Amino acid sequence: MTREAVCQTVAMPPEPNLGRADAGADSNAGAQIGEQNPYGGATPPATGGPKRVRTRHFQNAKREGIKITGLTSYDQLTARIFDEAGIDFLLVGDSAGNTVLGYDTTLPVTVDELIPLTRAVAGAVQRAFVVADMPFGSYENGPEEALHTAIRFMKETGAHAVKLEGGERSRKQITRIVQAGIPVMGHVGFTPQSEHGLGGHLIQGRGEGLEQLLADAIAVQEAGAFAVVLEMVPADAARQVTERLSIPTISVGGGPHCDGQLLVWTDWAGLTTGRIPKFVKQYANLAGILGDAARAWVADVAAGSYPGPEHSYE
Ligand code: KIV
Repeated sequence: MTREAVCQTVAMPPEPNLGRADAGADSNAGAQIGEQNPYGGATPPATGGPKRVRTRHFQNAKREGIKITGLTSYDQLTARIFDEAGIDFLLVGDSAGNTVLGYDTTLPVTVDELIPLTRAVAGAVQRAFVVADMPFGSYENGPEEALHTAIRFMKETGAHAVKLEGGERSRKQITRIVQAGIPVMGHVGFTPQSEHGLGGHLIQGRGEGLEQLLADAIAVQEAGAFAVVLEMVPADAARQVTERLSIPTISVGGGPHCDGQLLVWTDWAGLTTGRIPKFVKQYANLAGILGDAARAWVADVAAGSYPGPEHSYE
């Protein structure tokens, strides 16, 4: 699929990328059961709505060379917009620490802070696959702690999967969560929760670092993850990892050879001010639009032109 075709699916009423992967090539018998909950539930079965993205669609996309798209989201308004636009998955990232909660790093973020954000996102989407990010301190103590956290996200938010950082060092945690039937997205390369251990925001997988990157990505796959994020790695290193793995790779600053692309939405939409990473392409200037709107409103209020009669009650 060409880049243009992918863009069209986003700009037009979405003909989902991953849904296409489901169309012909999916011989998985489970897929034949359809999207209806066999036991019913509070939400009436959707008729004619978009089909939910599932982990098998990630696998199909890798096999068929269809690019996967993901954005972060932390609230129901953006979640609904991105879902309707055809974004395949939404990550409720611990980047909420920087974008929503006002921290300087992701380190202070807690499970209790992310749960309401994740619930808002999961409750707003019809099609997108929602991934809950496990924050620092919620899985490092071992597989049982990791499973406990993953279960909280699945029970309390309606997310469809969890994500955690680390390759070889998180192998046991991923294995335990997957054994419990919870899909896991891995995350290797630059891992923001270990920014102090890594010595800052540094590109990973360069030179001799490639061996460790490959070992980490393979460990994540062997542990049973359905996809893996490659953050801030050279494009050629990401290409080698992508060719080596059977699960899809999702790039955050990993270049064009990965199976999918993910960006922090506030960077991508130009809401973040100040320095943004080189790998971000900004598709809007929301900071400018909101700043202009705020200035115009202040001026209208000062001039007495807001509120007008049309905004006032008889
Ligand atoms: O928290 C986040 O948004 C992330 C992505 C940048 C991968 O982990």
